[in-house]
Amino acid sequence: MEQVMVLNHPLIQHKISMLRDKHTGTNEFRTLVEEIAMLMGYEALRDLPTEDIEVETPLETCMTPVIAGKKLAVVPILRAGLGMVGGILSLVPTAKVGHIGLYRDPETHEPHEYYCKLPQPIDQRTILVLDPMLATGGSGSDAVNLIKRHGGKHIKFMCIIAAPEGLARLQEDHPDIQIYIGSLDRGLNEQAYICPGLGDAGDRIFGTK
Ligand code: PRP
Ligand code: URA
Repeated sequence: MEQVMVLNHPLIQHKISMLRDKHTGTNEFRTLVEEIAMLMGYEALRDLPTEDIEVETPLETCMTPVIAGKKLAVVPILRAGLGMVGGILSLVPTAKVGHIGLYRDPETHEPHEYYCKLPQPIDQRTILVLDPMLATGGSGSDAVNLIKRHGGKHIKFMCIIAAPEGLARLQEDHPDIQIYIGSLDRGLNEQAYICPGLGDAGDRIFGTK
């Protein structure tokens, strides 16, 4: 399997274009983020473990696979990653949810950790880290470091928009994880915002400024 997948399905691309539009309001933005996460999750969870259960069809009894949902941990990076959780849980409602709180210093653009709570045992789960934006890659890389320090092994990172700089950093720091991207954009500006991007994802999801 490739380490990086850009999920350029027309449905995902269409919804990302709506997200980019500065005229898209908070309510619609939130819905779009959730829908995109669900569409991306369909691909990112392709290798999710299944287990066979016994089912009686109208004709006979058979063993048939179901998702081993308790084996999935969804871990949004606060705040903006929260907007993607519902989309993944609509696919795997039994998944456990952890949280990692990081904020980017506006001057240095370095991430600072303020919260971490992960479902245990974490080492036996597929862990899907969610953040709409991979800019410098500092937050994504630190989040994966934290999860590894807690024992996480099978880690996937899913973002809606990535900058080449952030992708390179995440690949270099964590060559062992799978990375799913909705759109790989041109690059970062002086404030380390992704261009063309969509602006500040957290502010647009939560209606703050
Ligand atoms: C944003 C975004 C990522 C991070 C990406 O969060 O949601 O977590 O920046 O930037 P990086 O790749 O350069 O680290 P922010 O720190 O603005 O916090 P918020 O989600 O609480 O708004
Ligand atoms: N965080 C965001 O929300 N947007 C960017 O473009 C970069 C970091």
